[in-house]
Amino acid sequence: MTPRDTTLFCLVLCLGQKIEAQEGNLSTPTISATPGSVIPWNESVKILCGGAPESYLYQLEILGNSTYTVVEKKWGFQKTAEFVIKHMDTNTAGRYQCRYRKQYSWSVHSDALELVVTGLYDKPSLSTNGYLVVMPGVNVSLRCSSAHISFNRFSLSKERRAVLSQHQNGGRWGDFILGPVNLSFSGIYTCYSWYSSSPYVWSAPSDALQLVVTGKCTPAHTYVLFLRALADCSGPWQQAGIQ
Ligand SMILES: *[C@@H]1O[C@H](CO)[C@@H](O)[C@H](O)[C@H]1NC(C)=O
Ligand SMILES: *[C@@H]1O[C@H](CO)[C@@H](O)[C@H](O)[C@H]1NC(C)=O
Ligand SMILES: *[C@@H]1O[C@H](CO)[C@@H](O)[C@H](O)[C@H]1NC(C)=O
Ligand SMILES: *[C@@H]1O[C@H](CO)[C@@H](O)[C@H](O)[C@H]1NC(C)=O
Ligand SMILES: *[C@@H]1O[C@H](CO)[C@@H](O)[C@H](O)[C@H]1NC(C)=O
Repeated sequence: MTPRDTTLFCLVLCLGQKIEAQEGNLSTPTISATPGSVIPWNESVKILCGGAPESYLYQLEILGNSTYTVVEKKWGFQKTAEFVIKHMDTNTAGRYQCRYRKQYSWSVHSDALELVVTGLYDKPSLSTNGYLVVMPGVNVSLRCSSAHISFNRFSLSKERRAVLSQHQNGGRWGDFILGPVNLSFSGIYTCYSWYSSSPYVWSAPSDALQLVVTGKCTPAHTYVLFLRALADCSGPWQQAGIQ
């Protein structure tokens, strides 16, 4: 190749690379919170932003009404960046998103992660008028109620993740129907009350209820059967955390 050819070759090649980079074909980042997205006031939470190999900058953003604010940037080559909120409060609760930078482009934004702070109002109570040890296929109804104050929203949570929200206008309770249930519905449930005007600020958690969905054992329709089921089947019970 003559020098002129080389120059031309490079021009085409470099330009091509630049255009490719600017168009940006980067995977959508993932965002998650650990230990979960429902966090007691003053406790810490980690936000993980998953990008791509060779990304060198990650940016965490909190969403306002129509725009976002940059919360923190993390430099350094890494596939996942970890952001820590040391003390959850009403200012750090909200909707977060992240994105990363690789070569000349920003990735698109991740989905929004909703971080909730809890413990700002007294706890509601969680109850059921049915059974907490059930066969798969059954619907389980739970009621979250507040003794004194009227809230307009109630949420059901399983192991620090919000699973269902219930709208109530000026009520003292919200009803939840779980189901038809399968084995993966087994677990510890709590509920929270809140106001629609502050969607990320919730009450303290209710006392916990444990739901056990068991495929192997006799349906436990009475307390006696409940005890028999306890004696009969060790597997699912242990999985559900009953000692
Ligand atoms: C992005 O890259 C993948 C594989 O690397 C390709 O299949 C896809 O068509 C590309 N998308 C765009 C918009 O260029
Ligand atoms: C908040 O948590 C920190 C520990 O992370 C503790 O030292 C501090 O006393 C707590 N603040 C309140 C008001 O409870
Ligand atoms: C967001 O919008 C609501 C009403 O749509 C308004 O009351 C609130 O002040 C706005 N918040 C900010 C931070 O702009
Ligand atoms: C459970 O609820 C669903 C609707 O969500 C209903 O179609 C179904 O019949 C119910 N099953 C039982 C056993 O009540
Ligand atoms: C249980 O039900 C949920 C929601 O209906 C479903 O997403 C999940 O795959 C089911 N799990 C099993 C083990 O069947």
